[in-house]
Amino acid sequence: MAVITFANTKGGAGKTTAVLLLATELARKGYRVTILDADPQHWISRWHEISGHVANISVIDFVTSASLPLHISENKHNTDYFIIDLPGARNPMLATAIGLSDHVLIPIQGCAMDARGGAQVLELLQYLDEKAGIRIGHSVVLTRVNSMVTTRALAIVKTLLNQRQVPVLDTAIIERSAFRDIFDCGGTLHTLDPARASNLDKARENALCFAEEIMRKLPVRLPAAARMTGPLIRSAA
Ligand SMILES: Nc1ncnc2c1ncn2[C@@H]1O[C@H](COP(=O)(O)OP(=O)(O)OP(=O)(O)O)[C@@H](O)[C@H]1O
Ligand SMILES: [Mg+2]
Repeated sequence: MAVITFANTKGGAGKTTAVLLLATELARKGYRVTILDADPQHWISRWHEISGHVANISVIDFVTSASLPLHISENKHNTDYFIIDLPGARNPMLATAIGLSDHVLIPIQGCAMDARGGAQVLELLQYLDEKAGIRIGHSVVLTRVNSMVTTRALAIVKTLLNQRQVPVLDTAIIERSAFRDIFDCGGTLHTLDPARASNLDKARENALCFAEEIMRKLPVRLPAAARMTGPLIRSAA
């Protein structure tokens, strides 16, 4: 079981979108995912309501600092990955969620480098490490990256961050309308109508790469049922 928190105290960095992409891709692989929705805008819970049943995904709404540890202990036997979607503002839940996490993902928008909200999360992680000896794995994930941005330009940004000891995921999340469409239509990238969503193949490939990178970072054994039937690639779309 692994707990992943998406945190950036600056609103609109792409946390909720990245949470949904990761959750739906992990579920498609056969992992049981519980999303803890602490975003006051409840986008994930609304998505879940309009989607109906999505195989392997549970969503818990109205998560608070006080209820967070309880949700994890109560559901750890039926969950492979917990994914926490935090509010986009400084909030006491940040420290609680980080303290319960195996890995913290810090979405930072593209190459804009408006990273102050991300820096606050990094500072808190550093504080925990230095003052309390609590070392929590973390990475920045570049989000909403324009599809025209070259691999070379992205590599430069990653190198700059790495030089400042900030680990950055290899996969950047690209700005794709399909990533917005799933919130409007419900379901996943694999149930969207390719005739209506542009560049759906590229969006699917991007989401898969992102999830696979997280799976490599935080490997969790597939549940027995999924091991026997193979990943739910076909049925859990
Ligand atoms: N990769 C992307 N491609 C296209 N649109 C995106 C992408 N990521 C985010 N968006 C859009 O940007 C807006 C903000 O994204 P999102 O809600 O994911 O950010 P957030 O960090 O969760 O915000 P908040 O801090 O308010 O909770 C939304 O309208 C969302 O649809
Ligand atoms: Mg959000």
